[in-house]
Amino acid sequence: MRVDGEEAVIPGKYAGGLEDNCPVKAFAGRDLARHDRIFNHLASGGIAVISGPVTALNELAVYVQRRSTDLKPRSESIIGRLMVLAKNDICEGIEPPVHIPHLSKFCGEASLTRDKMFLIPLVKLRKLQDALAQKWQVETLSSWIMAGDDVIPPKSQETVGLFREAIAAQTSSLPNNAQVLDMGCGSGVLTLLAAVLLDSLKPRITATDVMPEATASTRLNATRFADEGLIAPDSVELLKAGDLFAPVGNASFDLIIFNAPWVVAPVGSRADISLNDPKQKTIARFLEEIPRHLEREGRLVLGYADNSGQKAVARVLELAEKAGLRVIKERSVRVQTHRKKRKWQRIYVWEMERKIA
Ligand SMILES: C[S@@+](CC[C@H](N)C(=O)[O-])C[C@H]1O[C@@H](n2cnc3c(N)ncnc32)[C@H](O)[C@@H]1O
Repeated sequence: MRVDGEEAVIPGKYAGGLEDNCPVKAFAGRDLARHDRIFNHLASGGIAVISGPVTALNELAVYVQRRSTDLKPRSESIIGRLMVLAKNDICEGIEPPVHIPHLSKFCGEASLTRDKMFLIPLVKLRKLQDALAQKWQVETLSSWIMAGDDVIPPKSQETVGLFREAIAAQTSSLPNNAQVLDMGCGSGVLTLLAAVLLDSLKPRITATDVMPEATASTRLNATRFADEGLIAPDSVELLKAGDLFAPVGNASFDLIIFNAPWVVAPVGSRADISLNDPKQKTIARFLEEIPRHLEREGRLVLGYADNSGQKAVARVLELAEKAGLRVIKERSVRVQTHRKKRKWQRIYVWEMERKIA
């Protein structure tokens, strides 16, 4: 897609519903005030790339939102085609420019090359800014964490508490400079917990997730924690986002932590990736691959919940046994959910090690 003669991409997470070769027009200066013209362009399926003072852009967005409510069910897609240009970590089309570290990753792109232009729907940019502005207090860390849009924030203090106990229990069995992996790092809450709790061992903590939004969140949080002296500098390494162990290559670890997605249900939206595991395929593949990545004396700290029933929990334990693991200790806590149908769920965190042959 060309904007003002330059090639720009639309991140996959914002491209749903866009027709191939839909007309793209840039609106700036006095053209920005021609709300009706811009709206008509959007309503006929076009993309409007807008640039100008933030107040003018906001006024236009309010106008488009209001007009598009008359055109249901297309209202969502119309406002989503009102876009701003970004390059590297900056939305240049907005005056004053908006700077968000790791912006393309927060937009779901794992490897957009430097200097590549990309487009963000203005409403999604606002959603991301709102998400990043929220500080999630985590008692066990005595600090707060932020989470990008579509990334699961650390809402449950109980869950973090269980992981805290399980990770702290590893200090006596782990070697100095222990290699630790936080699989599915999300906001990075467990990455940071491990960095804090295992600090005396000078561990090397690697974090990865299938969502670039999650690796970006973890990176931002880890940078702040290091800057504030809450964790040792350079103790956390973020890998490029990818599926399960793909980003780690052949590496093996002394401790692997995984708070796995535990709702056995299809993934309907991007935010569902955090919690939903259709037919338990992700946890099954994770446990199948774990023997190749866990040191002989290594430990696994695995979190799951009975949100989809006890059968789902039992299947995880069966799969772990098949992978040659045994449970050393089980911790669990009953927590309230935000769902109507299932008000309570039990969270499990297991410490596991290899069975001795
Ligand atoms: C329950 S959340 C846990 C997030 C974070 N560790 C925490 O405890 O708050 C599960 C995480 O696994 C990630 N995930 C889901 N499928 C994955 C896959 N195939 N490979 C890597 N990570 C995955 C999700 O993006 C999500 O961040």
